[in-house]
Amino acid sequence: MYSLDDLKNSKGVALYARAKSLMPGGTQLLSKRPEMFAPDVWPSYYSKAKGCRVWDLDEREFIDMSIMAVGACILGYADDEVDDAVIGALRSGVNSSLNCPEEVALAEALMELHPWFGMARYARSGGEAMGLAVRIARAHSKRDVVLFSGYHGWNDWYLAANLADSGGLDGQLMPGLEPNGVPRGLSGTAIPFDANNIESLREKVRGKEKQIAAIVIEPARGEDAPAGYLKALRELATEIGAVLVFDEITSGFRMCAGGIHRNYGVYPDLAIFAKSMANGYAMSVVLGTEKVMQAAQTTFISSTNWTDRVGPTAALATLEKYQRLSVEKHLIESGNRVKQIWRAAAQAHGLEVNVTGLPTLAAFAFKSPHAQALNTRYTVEMLQRGFLGFRQFKPSLAHQTSDLDLYQIAVDEVFKLIAADPSGGLLCTPVHHAGFQRLTKE
Ligand SMILES: Cc1ncc(COP(=O)(O)O)c(C=O)c1O
Repeated sequence: MYSLDDLKNSKGVALYARAKSLMPGGTQLLSKRPEMFAPDVWPSYYSKAKGCRVWDLDEREFIDMSIMAVGACILGYADDEVDDAVIGALRSGVNSSLNCPEEVALAEALMELHPWFGMARYARSGGEAMGLAVRIARAHSKRDVVLFSGYHGWNDWYLAANLADSGGLDGQLMPGLEPNGVPRGLSGTAIPFDANNIESLREKVRGKEKQIAAIVIEPARGEDAPAGYLKALRELATEIGAVLVFDEITSGFRMCAGGIHRNYGVYPDLAIFAKSMANGYAMSVVLGTEKVMQAAQTTFISSTNWTDRVGPTAALATLEKYQRLSVEKHLIESGNRVKQIWRAAAQAHGLEVNVTGLPTLAAFAFKSPHAQALNTRYTVEMLQRGFLGFRQFKPSLAHQTSDLDLYQIAVDEVFKLIAADPSGGLLCTPVHHAGFQRLTKE
């Protein structure tokens, strides 16, 4: 057990306090802000990560039963095979005046998995690739308006939804995103609709059929899309001449190699991958039909760092290992076991807990008006027991049965404590943040 005092007085907590005075928001990714987990206690920084374990700046070891690098490290941290391939690329030069051949091999490998696509363009982050996809869709259709549901990153095209309606993005996973800095002229160019609700989409389409450049969705987020929804979406997009874009940045590689749309048998015009495709190395791709992708030639899309050798090398090695070991089977099995662990512990201690999500994007929620305090208590207690514990779990190949056995014992203990203090009154740290919240400089 780690003591609460030791966790509060850790080097990571102190470093984060400094970080907030040096970097607006303290981190580069909202989902890695310590406030999202357990303010003033979350270790914040790692000295080393390997498999499903991380070590904080005080060399304390934790099993990561949380977001696993927001889903990026699907094979586990510092995977030897991927890292060896990358080390080879480092030794032979990560950039030069010529292009790296790995980007061609990667396009071929991705197209083999998704034979309905004919071309690829690369970037290095998810948000960037989504920017490319929307630009290509607008260039192809020669129209401006994007209808979307779900979360798609930080770009102007997306935040423009909040210019017209400050709460427009609130139903799209991340409440409170402010569009300051996004040109007001973009107002009305990005319009949200309710996920998995074809009627909501039809309503937004009505009267604007000829203005709609693209329909952009996440083909699955928490749960599988309802039967028939994606097919209806495909038909509607074709009917109005809009480009259908599947953002697979979160759903990709979780239930099968490549896009989850392979399982559904519904084929978009463009699909975007990032996160899991290179096991944590910076890499992203827009895959698309040749007809739509050729529009990239009619606009300007170009960047130096999109030519580096590390990203495609890591992606090729990740893809090879994923397919060789059918990694999805392990992910699904581990996710299902964790969902069962949550359900069993809740039942044993009379806690009302909602367990949701695809097994590989599993989550639980306390059914309580004090849920935020209980979530925080859960994380704080799990940290003391040597786990990065959160109300979401993204399994990796590195999570072994023995890790889940240890986790099961800890969850049972912690749910018991929470059941004994249902209002969270014993929590002696601030509660976690939910959604976007401005952080003040300290
Ligand atoms: C569905 C989806 N789209 C886009 C993004 C943005 O990707 P990135 O954080 O790599 O910019 C994310 C990240 O969480 C995502 O889940």
